[in-house]
Amino acid sequence: DKIALFQDTLLKWYDLEKRDLPWRRTSDPYKIWISEIMLQQTRVDTVIAYYKNFLTSFPDINHLAEADDDRLLKVWEGLGYYSRVRNMKEAAIQVVTHHDGIFPDNYEEIKKLKGIGPYTAGAIASIAFQQAEPAVDGNLMRVLSRLFEIDIDIAKPASRKVFEAVMYHIIDQNRPGDFNQALMDLGATICTPKNYDPSISPVKEFNASYVNETYLNYPIKSKK
Ligand code: ADE
Repeated sequence: DKIALFQDTLLKWYDLEKRDLPWRRTSDPYKIWISEIMLQQTRVDTVIAYYKNFLTSFPDINHLAEADDDRLLKVWEGLGYYSRVRNMKEAAIQVVTHHDGIFPDNYEEIKKLKGIGPYTAGAIASIAFQQAEPAVDGNLMRVLSRLFEIDIDIAKPASRKVFEAVMYHIIDQNRPGDFNQALMDLGATICTPKNYDPSISPVKEFNASYVNETYLNYPIKSKK
């Protein structure tokens, strides 16, 4: 069917063109978590060096749970949004005390950890544990909005649930982590906020707003 063809086309493109990023060479949920928290407010190019440095200083969840606060802030210096790293230490302590130091392997338990919301829980569950969970952030909403001509305002917090419902419908059950990351790459490299050219997209024939020539109308985004 059409969804299966879309999945295969997107994943084939991803297999050929995916960005070679350090957190894509591991399935360790701890490392994937670190990357996803850093990537929330910081660009990929900047994150790479911080990611490597962080893991050298705090190679596993036990090290993070016992981290010295000054050293932790030092390693985070320059990334900003310092509540992120304070929450991460709290979450590491939660994993050590409630899960014997083993990172929980399902969406609901992951989401209970300090500082982990629906996006991060979905990213970890899908990438580290192959669970068919969406990871919807602003970039993904832009991508989905254009693909399916979704007429809702992506600036409204309540909209995320609509996009999650779309994702549950289309996510590849066998490769959910790659599927999520393929859409992230599409959003970063082709389905960009500015200078968007849908004619170069690997999935252009599945892109309703390209086929219907309405792509300049998407995403719908009110000013906050
Ligand atoms: N942005 C957020 N998560 C990402 C990931 N896993 N790969 C690339 N970019 C991302």
